[in-house]
Amino acid sequence: MKAQANGEETMLQDAVRYSKEAGSLVMELMNGPLRIHEKVNLSDLVTAVDVRSEELVRARIASEYPEHWILSEETDGGTNGERGGADPRPGYGWIIDPIDGTINFIHKIAHFAISIGIVKDGEPVVGAVFNPVTGDLYTARKGGGAFWNGQPLAVGRERELGQALIGTGFQAKDWHPDSVVLRQLCSLTGKARNVRINGAASLDLCHVASGRLTGFWHDGLYPWDVAAGLVIVREAGGVVSNRDGGEFALSDDSLVATNGAVHEALLAVLQSAAR
Ligand code: IPD
Ligand code: CA
Ligand code: CA
Repeated sequence: MKAQANGEETMLQDAVRYSKEAGSLVMELMNGPLRIHEKVNLSDLVTAVDVRSEELVRARIASEYPEHWILSEETDGGTNGERGGADPRPGYGWIIDPIDGTINFIHKIAHFAISIGIVKDGEPVVGAVFNPVTGDLYTARKGGGAFWNGQPLAVGRERELGQALIGTGFQAKDWHPDSVVLRQLCSLTGKARNVRINGAASLDLCHVASGRLTGFWHDGLYPWDVAAGLVIVREAGGVVSNRDGGEFALSDDSLVATNGAVHEALLAVLQSAAR
């Protein structure tokens, strides 16, 4: 079997190949009928293109790595926002977001990606995030470094929160005036340099890895949003935790990723705003 004969570097190269193939399909279908469908509410959307992209990647994995399990948003996510399949399973598994940033995709904002992470016994070991519009490809393998289009990545050098540019986003159910994330946003004003909401968590994590963002926090993300990006952040020298500061696990409901230097300061602001 292919998986036994090859190592994680081969799996990474295959993940890149699948993400590029899915990216070509997404670009081809982008200007046709999208058939937009609401999942949980008006800000949780899926299109026919998400489904086609996911089918393509699942088919490649099933044929080339039949002994590996697969977790993907449109197949496993359900329609009620369940955290399907977040618990670690044994062996190698592929975790797919066929279009991360679907709202950007629908609105023709060139900031969305195909995100493919690979975990081994529950631990993320490989990540590939590909933006098919810009051609930006972010990759990492545990112990092998992180790369943007083949060039090494490193997190930003900001030492203090006052120099930090921080990303965040809303989970669909948090898009209301009393949400915690709004309190946290307010509480960062005057403390961080500024905040960005770019609309694709996988790419936000890659931006932390590349030093464009100093940090990123988000509640309620799913394994497919983060499995790839978190390997990329860690391999670029960053830190990824949950809201309590513990090491992030794929089953966690909160994520804070930074360059390391501002991690404690950011956690302190977020925690006090959430009380
Ligand atoms: C969304 C994006 C967005 C985040 C949302 C996610 P989707 O994923 O990652 O940045 O704020 O919570 O649901 O639905 O576009 O795959
Ligand atoms: Ca997503
Ligand atoms: Ca998606």
